[in-house]
Amino acid sequence: MTFTPRVFSGIQPSGDLHLGNYLGAIRRFVPLQDTHDCIYCVVDMHAITVWQDPDDLRRATREVAAAYVAAGIDPKRAIIFNQSQVIQHAELAWVFNCIARIGWMNRMTQFKDKAGKNSENVSLGLLAYPSLMAADILLYKATHVPVGDDQKQHLELTRDIAAKFNNDYAASIAAQGHDGEFFPITEPLIAGPATRIMSLRDGTKKMSKSDPSDQSRISLLDDADAIARKIRKATTDPAELPHDIEGLSSRPEADNLVGIYAALSDRTKAQVLAEFGGKGWGTFKPALADLAVAVLGPMGDEMRRLIEDTTTIDAILRDGAERARVIAEATMVDVRSIVGFIR
Ligand code: TRP
Repeated sequence: MTFTPRVFSGIQPSGDLHLGNYLGAIRRFVPLQDTHDCIYCVVDMHAITVWQDPDDLRRATREVAAAYVAAGIDPKRAIIFNQSQVIQHAELAWVFNCIARIGWMNRMTQFKDKAGKNSENVSLGLLAYPSLMAADILLYKATHVPVGDDQKQHLELTRDIAAKFNNDYAASIAAQGHDGEFFPITEPLIAGPATRIMSLRDGTKKMSKSDPSDQSRISLLDDADAIARKIRKATTDPAELPHDIEGLSSRPEADNLVGIYAALSDRTKAQVLAEFGGKGWGTFKPALADLAVAVLGPMGDEMRRLIEDTTTIDAILRDGAERARVIAEATMVDVRSIVGFIR
């Protein structure tokens, strides 16, 4: 069985999108529109696995949708929608809850990190999170999923769930007239190291919305002044920039800033160092600030405009949901009869 190449990815609406989300995910989604059917989701059902204030959730959902559009994802070509509008996600997640084993969920490092010592007192949804993520992907029989390194384990679990479903229901799948696999074994498209963006205050910590220091991250809604100021004040060592990548090892802050420059200009770190090797921060930081303002400034303006224009953003999400629902329902018609549900 061959599957149409299709890309699916999702971002949680949990507030304050930053440069790490842009370079690690959103920016990489844009060129895939030229080669694949693309579906980009705002995963609001995943967000509520931990408490979200309802008004904040609405705002954050529109913020992610606005970021998709402002970054250059065309809502007519690609499908942009929020997960909860396509109820088939919940329906398939339930079937997958009955396919996946509790042991698989308990092994997820993201669950262990989020639950910490409190694992008896987090929501049941947080434990089942990867099962809903598998449903997101497999509802559309997506063949490729662009994700960051941290989501690799969840992608492997998605593959395990697809394989177990295909296997457990093999006879029924064949009896329903499908030849071969029902769900594809989805390939991850993992980002390169230049797209792992670290804190501007500490090059060993990931840029994160939960870092208490606002200086540690560039928000996609920061204005040009804030962007330039945060880059000028970014922590660095005193040495000048090295001439090659080896010179960046054990210099996490330098490595991070060179990586950001490379990602924002679609170059490799080696190409950036060929230009800036031997120069000091007094030269590099202003160049990086100019580049970041040139790329992020207009995008932030467009995001702010769209977030205010809720009629337009909500119409984009509704239109995307309608198109997503057609694909999702076709899959569920088959899944229901494969499993043995009467309709
Ligand atoms: N778990 C992903 C994250 O936190 C978000 C996500 C949900 C996702 N469903 C997805 C990513 C499906 C890719 C495909 O980043």
